[in-house]
Parts: sequence; C-alpha cells; structure tokens
Amino acid sequence: MTLLKAISLSHHFDYPLFEDVSLSLDAGESMAIIGVSGSGKSTLMHILSSLLHPIKGDVELFGNNVYRMGDKELVKLRRNDLGMIYQNHYLFKGFSAYENLEVAALLSNQAVDLGLIERLGIERVINQKVTELSGGQQQRVSIARVLTKKPRLIFADEPTGNLDHTTAMEVMEIFEEYLAHHQAGMVLVTHDETLASRCTYRYRMQEGTLKQV
Ligand SMILES: Nc1ncnc2c1ncn2[C@@H]1O[C@H](COP(=O)(O)OP(=O)(O)OP(=O)(O)O)[C@@H](O)[C@H]1O
Ligand SMILES: [Mg+2]
Repeated sequence: MTLLKAISLSHHFDYPLFEDVSLSLDAGESMAIIGVSGSGKSTLMHILSSLLHPIKGDVELFGNNVYRMGDKELVKLRRNDLGMIYQNHYLFKGFSAYENLEVAALLSNQAVDLGLIERLGIERVINQKVTELSGGQQQRVSIARVLTKKPRLIFADEPTGNLDHTTAMEVMEIFEEYLAHHQAGMVLVTHDETLASRCTYRYRMQEGTLKQV
C-alpha cells in the first residue's frame, strides 16, 4: 500500500527553494532526505505532512489528496495516522515526561508503552519536568511520544541530532522495528550518512530539486 505520494511539488519563499519534487513511499519503507542546511528539507517535510501548502503540486496521504480533504478529516488524519518529530521538540513544558506520553496515549486511544521508555533509556527521568531534561533526553521523550500514538507514517526531522552515535543507532533500531512491526513508513531528515544508509531510499536536496542517490 502506498502511504505517501508527492507529485511535482514546487515551493519558494522570497527565492526559489525547490521544483518538481516527486516521491512515493510504501508500507514498511523508509526514506532519508539529506542536503545542506537551508536547502529546504524541513520545508519539504512540512509540505509532505500536510502542514504547509506548496506553491505547486499535490500530496497524497494513504491514497487521498490532502488538498481535497475537509478540515475535520485532515485533523483526524494528523492526530491518528501521522507522527511528527520536529527539529525543535514541542513537548508540553509544564508537564513531566510521563505526562507528555499520557496525553499522547489518551488522544489516540493507546496505552503508554513502558518497554519503549526503557529501550529509549529515559526510565530514570520519566517523572521529571521536561524543562529539567537534557536536549537528548527531550528528543527521546519526543520519539516516545510519537511512537505511543502508533502512527502509520512518521516524519522525523533530525530526530537524533542531539544524540551520541551509539544512542542514535539504538533509536534507529527502534524505528526500524516499529516500521516492520506496524507496516508503517518513515520520512527521515538527517545529516548522518550512517542513518541515511539504513533507509530503504536516500534522496538529496540539491540544486533546487530532490534527487535519489
Ligand atoms: N516560513 C518561512 N518564511 C520565509 N522563509 C522561510 C520559512 N521557512 C523557511 N524559510 C527559508 O527557507 C529556506 C529553507 O529552510 P528549511 O528550514 O527548509 O531548510 P533545511 O534544509 O531544513 O535546513 P537545516 O538543515 O538547517 O534544518 C531557509 O533559507 C529559510 O530561511
Ligand atoms: Mg531543517
């Protein structure tokens, strides 16, 4: 089953960013997007995850064109089927790490997965306020929060940017197992070539377009 399809996307802000970007991702597959800072990777992720409307082109999620969906339908799809891990982690600041996971579980009718918390190595800080956590710990709470939702499609923008190499590899393993087990898909923006090489497909944002490498 095709989870994500982008058809000839173009976008610019004050100057052209990219043109004619097309891609497709099936269940169980992952895609890495690499490219220099400022080349438009995060912007493309925002478009693919339905948060930003491109100047030209179409995005299909699970076979439906997102620009023909109603607002309610789109909100429901984002809440239940998409998992987004942003460059800046949007955790609820006044809450503990565990409370952040509880909210995610509640919103999507799932249970908090204690095994996942342990595997991510955040069990000892789980009751601390997220503002008291290190950058890498916050990043791992964000990952736990997104996986708690059991999304069918994950958008991860440099999810391991604050992690040491060993922890980053462990996180990648967790993602890989999740994708295989749930037949989910993942779009991963990363500067880490080792992580990129573990994805089903690799793309580079370069010279104003996305090229498979
Ligand atoms: N909302 C916006 N309004 C105007 N310009 C924007 C906006 N969002 C991004 N840009 C510009 O678009 C360009 C691409 O930004 P983007 O965040 O997509 O890059 P990136 O490839 O993710 O970079 P990085 O690797 O540093 O995260 C940048 O020059 C940025 O300033
Ligand atoms: Mg970015």
